[in-house]
Amino acid sequence: MHEEIARRRTFAIISHPDAGKTTLTEKLLLFGGGIRAAGAVKSNKITRTTTSDFMEIEKQRGISVSTAVMTFEYDGKLINILDTPGHKDFSEDTYRTLSAVDSVILVVDSVKGVEEQTERLMQVCRMRKTPVMIFVNKLDREGKQAFELADELEEKLEIAVRPLTWPIGSGSSFKGVYNLHEQNINLFRSGKDVIEDEEDRLYIDSLEDERLDQRLGSGLSARLREEVDLIEGVYDPFQTEDYLEARVAPLFFGSALNNFGVRELLDSFVGISPAPGKRGTATREVAPEETSFSGFIFKIHANLDPNHRDRIAFLRVCSGRFQKDRQFRHVRLGKTIRFNMLYGFMARKKNTIDEAYPGDVIGLYDRGDLKIGDTLTEKEDLQFEGIPNFSPEIFREVVVTDPMRSKQLNKGLTHLIEEGLAQLFIQDKGRRKIVGTVGELQFQVIQYRLENEYGASCSFRPLPYVRACWITSESKSAMDEFMQYHFRQIAYDLEDNPVYFAESDWMLRSKMEGNPEIRFHFSSELDSEMSQYELGAMHSGRK
Ligand code: G4P
Repeated sequence: MHEEIARRRTFAIISHPDAGKTTLTEKLLLFGGGIRAAGAVKSNKITRTTTSDFMEIEKQRGISVSTAVMTFEYDGKLINILDTPGHKDFSEDTYRTLSAVDSVILVVDSVKGVEEQTERLMQVCRMRKTPVMIFVNKLDREGKQAFELADELEEKLEIAVRPLTWPIGSGSSFKGVYNLHEQNINLFRSGKDVIEDEEDRLYIDSLEDERLDQRLGSGLSARLREEVDLIEGVYDPFQTEDYLEARVAPLFFGSALNNFGVRELLDSFVGISPAPGKRGTATREVAPEETSFSGFIFKIHANLDPNHRDRIAFLRVCSGRFQKDRQFRHVRLGKTIRFNMLYGFMARKKNTIDEAYPGDVIGLYDRGDLKIGDTLTEKEDLQFEGIPNFSPEIFREVVVTDPMRSKQLNKGLTHLIEEGLAQLFIQDKGRRKIVGTVGELQFQVIQYRLENEYGASCSFRPLPYVRACWITSESKSAMDEFMQYHFRQIAYDLEDNPVYFAESDWMLRSKMEGNPEIRFHFSSELDSEMSQYELGAMHSGRK
């Protein structure tokens, strides 16, 4: 058991769209033997339609809407990559996936630097103290200078960085990367679509080695010596604990498309990234070595096969062993539940497995019992934290367009909400349904999927709100009074918790100041760090 836990590495690759997340994932899989042919890698259009994209809609839109799991072995480690959608409209999905990983690789485009989505994703990592490695990609293009990029990363992502590799030239003069730790140089050859050859590597004992000048030319080799001197002078020596405690992000440079600098990243990753660790629940911390099983659901895929209404729930194992055919406790429903089919995701194919260990992500065939955030255990009543709903930003009322098919509409909406595509709020004893999302695109996805998967249709009436806050109070009379006075702006979430809709941040702030007995929460996990953080972020005008 201890060995199995120690060899697992579960992480996500995150980036602003187009920075190269898909390409890097493919190259990592290539190293792990998860895929063989270079041909499959060359065109990432293939990836987009066959690898991690389960739903038809993704093929159409060309963006990764769902999260999938890819497992491979490398250097004795069992690596689980959790794919995340890059599009910001689906960032809630990404945030939930980040609750299921032990570390993160952040990809940044060297030409564009830190982009909007990079900053948002990094905020979530900082909040959760997730260890992060940064891969600066597309060094084969004329991009920003490496020092300039390192400073930008520190400033905008609010984390110290420590280069572990360093680029030699860039764009048309890109010659390779220098591995600061191993003191060797990986020479660049463009268009590498297979695992690199040893002959591309130049081992040197010191930067004074004459072969450096022969291979790089005197200009670039002099500059490398100077820059390495500067790095060693400016940055503190790299300490693994600083990375594991999320204080420092090791920095790598390369070109995913050319499979360049990827081996350095992967080798460091398997060397220092964290194995599955302790996880917080509402009552206590759970250690992976505990013999009793526990885990939580962070993702649901519905209707993978349109002919069968099947759903796969993705479960992260947190402690003990998950075995098929055993009875587990479904904490929310307070009943026992058994699964006779577990899916693993080795070599990018869904295959059935018999058991899973902490760190693993498995797919469970679900008949409608499971929801995002559910905890399963062996017997104890635990509730894992960190999988809340966040305040949506766009709100629309559901308008029934075909009353004859309202039953299908309700069923479809319920299923899509359970999948985490959007949030549903109820007003007027269920007569009024309000859908809340973080992006426009989700409304289109909902309409498309309702039509294609449920034969139902609806339209959406825009509402003037910008934020939903869960409200609580110690004082029942204060709560009653607030609810009565603001009854038009109050709705209930599916757990029957009251939610206040605000028309502007200014309005919300004035309500908060005017009603000190009411607590406003920005996530459904009412006392979580998240709500405090979001509040701070909003007050400082960042949100
Ligand atoms: P994403 O998942 O983060 O959205 O990015 P993805 O890997 O799909 O890469 C986005 C684009 O950037 C792709 O080009 C990809 O080929 C390109 N790219 C990735 N890594 C590198 C790199 O190291 N160097 C250069 N020059 N380009 C890179 P595309 O034109 O959108 O797609 P395709 O037509 O090439 O498949």
